[in-house]
Amino acid sequence: MLGTLVLLWLGIFLFLLFITMRRPKNFPPGPTPLPLFGNLLQFNPNAPLKELDKLSQRYGSVFSIFVGGRPWVILSGQEVIREALVTRAAEFTGRPDQLMVSHILDNNGVIMSAGSKWREHRRFALTTLRNFGLGKHSMEERILEEVKHICERLERHAGMSMDPQNLFHNAASNIICSIIFGSRFNYEDDYFQTLIDRMQEFNKIVISPWAMIYDIIPPVRCLPLPFRKAFEHYEKLRAHILKVVAEHKNSWVAGKPRDMIDYYLDEMLKRAGQGLSFDDTQMVALLFDLFLAGTDTTSNTLRTLSLYLMTHEQIQERCQQEIDMVLGSREHVSYEDRHAMPYVQAVIHEAQRVSDVAPLGLFHTTTANTQIRGYSIPKGTLIVPYLSSALREKGQWKFPDEFNPQNFLNDKGEFVKPDAFMPFSAGPRVCLGEGLARMELFLILVTILRRFRLVWPEDGGVPDHSLIFGGTQSVKPYCLGVQLRL
Ligand code: HEM
Repeated sequence: MLGTLVLLWLGIFLFLLFITMRRPKNFPPGPTPLPLFGNLLQFNPNAPLKELDKLSQRYGSVFSIFVGGRPWVILSGQEVIREALVTRAAEFTGRPDQLMVSHILDNNGVIMSAGSKWREHRRFALTTLRNFGLGKHSMEERILEEVKHICERLERHAGMSMDPQNLFHNAASNIICSIIFGSRFNYEDDYFQTLIDRMQEFNKIVISPWAMIYDIIPPVRCLPLPFRKAFEHYEKLRAHILKVVAEHKNSWVAGKPRDMIDYYLDEMLKRAGQGLSFDDTQMVALLFDLFLAGTDTTSNTLRTLSLYLMTHEQIQERCQQEIDMVLGSREHVSYEDRHAMPYVQAVIHEAQRVSDVAPLGLFHTTTANTQIRGYSIPKGTLIVPYLSSALREKGQWKFPDEFNPQNFLNDKGEFVKPDAFMPFSAGPRVCLGEGLARMELFLILVTILRRFRLVWPEDGGVPDHSLIFGGTQSVKPYCLGVQLRL
């Protein structure tokens, strides 16, 4: 009897789900969904981007798929992505508020927030990062300080090889720590490693199939399933940030900011009594966002970049010639030097293109009923800017399918950036850390190549440039051969 009831209930649930899985009138087309999972089962979890490419060939640059009972609109190719995120930005800058990550972050901070809370915090964070560019302990100095530690570690491995994953990850985390907390950690510090491990675990879970199950089947949310770990990690990381904030409050001198926390405390003082959303909760969420968004992205790019340099020796040597010529006997590189290094710039951008770090960007939602390419998109629809499609788009690149810096050089050897280069996305939601990431990639690469030759180790097997799919993609683990340059 009970079994029959359960089956009946399940049948009604699936039927209701199925009838809600109809595309609204004039909605972007796409494959027919199945009950409960929508189109999910049609995707090979290891190569979902291939499936998106096929759908785009079949349905055009705007199409839709169902994930569970919810339709996602996919924007494929640079033109339509720009049309939505730049030209029609006002209607395409929302963020979904029903995903697991939105629930964990409670739509606070900057990544998952929207409306005036997002705008005010985004403006604050951008201004603060810009202020760091000018201040005494500038962003550039903080990055160069970290580069010293990277080089020390590489030097210890000169003549040998090492897996660069932890090194680049620690370095990228430390740069963020230095900017937001005012101090860096020793790479060997256990506490630091625990923080980084937690953050990586959090990152993994929020883009795992468990997160999808959380999103698709609301009744399971309260069960003790592996996604609960993400909530735990967030609480522990939040507690760490709160502790640092409390310490800052004891030593903070208004108007004399040392780091982003101090800038935020100044801002809270300035806005006191104005009823705006600058408070401890938002501060912690913002700091968490910067830590979350600024680590994997940069370190994965550095790993892919190093792999390509090892396997493309001539490109590496040409970078070194340019670096030697521009820097001469000067001790340090400066970010200004990039203008005199078009080839190095082209190599970094090309590495970003093939790294394809955030293939689906971050999801947006529509903030009003709108239209794109003649299709009607209701308010609240989830939008996926398929950034990867632009980075590999035929007709936009001289060599879309190979690693070739010529993609960013004109006939005169000058550096040029095609419109389809959008690893940071576009429009008002464009990556908030773009300036910082660019500076990091340039200063780290130039300093490393000036002192070291990167070589593919003899026992390294066959180099594999393929990417492991994820919210942030990366190449598989490999060993970096390091030799000191004379
Ligand atoms: C957002 C890429 C480094 C902070 C984004 C987005 C992308 C992206 C694709 C989504 C934009 C959108 O919603 O349309 C990258 C890449 C990086 C990088 C490829 C490095 C190579 C950083 C760094 C930081 C950072 C170093 C830290 C300062 C953020 C934040 C957002 C964001 C806070 C959310 C912006 C908003 O919602 O307004 N990033 N990012 N990113 N990124 Fe980055």
